[in-house]
Amino acid sequence: MYLPWTIKHKPRTLKEVIGNEEAKLELVNWIKSWDRGIPEKRAAFLYGPPGVGKTVTVEALANDFQMELIEKNASDYRTEEVIKRFAGLASQYGTLFGRRRIILLDELDGLTGNADKGGVKAITDIIKETQCPVILIANNAYDPRFITLRNYCLLIEFKKPKVSEVLEYLKVICKREGIQAEDAALKFIANRSEGDVRSAIIDLQATAQGKKILTYNDVAWLGYRDRQENIFTVLKMIIYARTCDGAKRAANMADIDMDMLFEWIYENVPSHITDPHDLARAMDALSLADIYRGRIKRTQDWSFMRYFIDYMTAGVAMSRVNTKVAGWAPFKFPQRIQMLTKTKSEREMMLGIALKIKRKCHISANRAIKEFLPYLRVIFRNNSEMAAKIAKWLELDPEMINYLTGSGIETAKKTIEQQ
Ligand SMILES: Nc1ncnc2c1ncn2[C@@H]1O[C@H](COP(=O)(O)OP(=O)(O)OP(=O)(O)O)[C@@H](O)[C@H]1O
Ligand SMILES: [Mg+2]
Repeated sequence: MYLPWTIKHKPRTLKEVIGNEEAKLELVNWIKSWDRGIPEKRAAFLYGPPGVGKTVTVEALANDFQMELIEKNASDYRTEEVIKRFAGLASQYGTLFGRRRIILLDELDGLTGNADKGGVKAITDIIKETQCPVILIANNAYDPRFITLRNYCLLIEFKKPKVSEVLEYLKVICKREGIQAEDAALKFIANRSEGDVRSAIIDLQATAQGKKILTYNDVAWLGYRDRQENIFTVLKMIIYARTCDGAKRAANMADIDMDMLFEWIYENVPSHITDPHDLARAMDALSLADIYRGRIKRTQDWSFMRYFIDYMTAGVAMSRVNTKVAGWAPFKFPQRIQMLTKTKSEREMMLGIALKIKRKCHISANRAIKEFLPYLRVIFRNNSEMAAKIAKWLELDPEMINYLTGSGIETAKKTIEQQ
């Protein structure tokens, strides 16, 4: 059975929840204070970025204190009326069987629109009267909608755990799963998560499930996602640079080769440098860069490299004289490369797979091609067990599996047999 590791390895007790020691302590003290009577603040409002353990902390708290947790999501308390019904629960501390209860209203950010206008007020009313602890959770407690509500709450901030803490946690999970992981591999995942524990665990599962050994190479492909963002940043820094030096430095930040960078710049200059005179100058600079590129290829004289780079970076940036930075144009993937890499049959194959994904995941075929296919390819090439499960779930044809694994028909057959 496919069980997400975020659930399989979900902390059961507060001790297992990493990071946020201060927040946890504050929450525990507040819960304990209920033993001495109803405290001044009858609700605690936990807030902070996604995936840092807000929800899981409350679940672990209830477990540690053996309290009954009544959990509601924003979608469950859309309207004032529903909340009022829910309020009945808050009128008593103990349950019929003597267990005390905590009421959790999670994902408050989800309250939107007119239907929920009364919602926040209704929650505030419940909190004024509640006989048992209420915990609220949102990403942003400082949303103006919560201005009155906040007065009645003990605000507790959840921060991102340190990368080193995430790393330790990933090690624990690997140990439980019987995976020997290279330090560099786990460091890579922990670093890129930037404190989002949920995404770190998802990345770990995607790269490590079913493996005995996890190497740096197994995880490096995750960088593909970052690289897409990275290239946009680099392009922006080049095309909108104010100084030659700034534009040149940006080229060094790109983790694609200079040929590819050239294609990106060439593709995107016309939609960003819109003044015709500026554009003519920029295209001149690019054609000079292209001439030097040709010379390098022909003569293998790499000393031309500096001219190639200067023209395509500083040359382009300095052409921008009259163009105003107006609005925002998205950066596009180089058409030329797209044409080169994809034949018609390949495009049809990709569309076929995308339609299968679309049926299961309810997303557009286009998005499936852009966001899902690259990952599927890597999974299919590296983790046949996971690939087999996905293939079965998506109901992929042997040709599609073959295409994704990028190997001969033999592998495809094997994948089918494993199903
Ligand atoms: N601090 C943590 N320690 C251990 N595991 C964590 C931690 N934070 C998150 N996780 C893992 O990530 C999953 C999601 O965490 P959780 O639901 O608590 O995040 P959240 O802060 O409530 O995020 P959101 O704002 O998106 O609701 C958990 O089930 C758990 O597996
Ligand atoms: Mg949550």
